[in-house]
Amino acid sequence: MNDGDGTLAAQDRGRQFGPLGTALVIIPTYNEAENIKSIVGRVRKAVPEAHVLVADDNSPDGTGKLADELAVEDDHVQVLHRKGKEGLGAAYLAGFRWGIEKGYGVLIEMDADGSHRPEELPRLLTALKGADLVLGSRWVPGGRVVNWPKSREFISRGGSLYSRLALDLPLRDITGGYRAFRRETLEGLGLDDVASQGYCFQVDLARRAVKAGFHVVEVPITFVERELGDSKMSRDILVEALWRVTSWGARERVGKLMGRTKPSSPSRPSQS
Ligand code: GDD
Ligand code: MN
Repeated sequence: MNDGDGTLAAQDRGRQFGPLGTALVIIPTYNEAENIKSIVGRVRKAVPEAHVLVADDNSPDGTGKLADELAVEDDHVQVLHRKGKEGLGAAYLAGFRWGIEKGYGVLIEMDADGSHRPEELPRLLTALKGADLVLGSRWVPGGRVVNWPKSREFISRGGSLYSRLALDLPLRDITGGYRAFRRETLEGLGLDDVASQGYCFQVDLARRAVKAGFHVVEVPITFVERELGDSKMSRDILVEALWRVTSWGARERVGKLMGRTKPSSPSRPSQS
């Protein structure tokens, strides 16, 4: 676990981490026609050995078709066509399952709109050599946001603070969506019972990783607000996040009061 200044907690010191396998960058898309070619091109240039999976929810603006064109030209690019808009969480779950089945060793989350700079991916991957999960973080020293309206910054900082307190998590950016998972980490999170649909999916996975005892590291990133297309953030997404985080927090507190030492989350498989 990260104790805040990047050093390892006692139980993690001396732990051996296996080599990283091939990385799959999963990019969920809903109406990102103006962004898809640029983001895929930047990923391919920044980390040429990585593969890309576009998880498109049948975008009305034809993003899926543009992604297909990229896939025809480049054998490192593939497209998962989903039948309709089911939220970021469902798209990532489908992408993770696809990637795990194909044998990828590292699964990466990245937005399509350029907010998560592919040029920073090598730093996340370097950190993953000594971690189970790396979170790109706007709210640790060195992290920042560019061109974000104050209102969005307030919601994001507030969401992380609320999650940190309600769920007792030692993390600063809990809602962010630029992340690198080892496949074994995802396999230990109990993905089959994840119900989060919107952006609270990110809180859900961070919470599960910490509770399962995985070593989670935050790496500072520069988050750049999109220039093209629109954010899919909505009132419904906020409301879902608020009630889910509140109910997870309440359940954990009740569990602790009832004398359970550990909450009922999946635990890390024994590792050598
Ligand atoms: N397939 C699919 N289905 N993709 C989706 C959906 C969906 O229902 N909703 C959003 N996306 C995709 C977008 O196309 C984009 O690539 C990515 O998910 C992020 O969506 P944005 O709409 O750009 O998110 P944001 O900029 O408002 O929010 C950012 O900050 C949040 C709070 O910190 C993202 O980084 C989120 O991941 C993060 O939770
Ligand atoms: Mn965005």
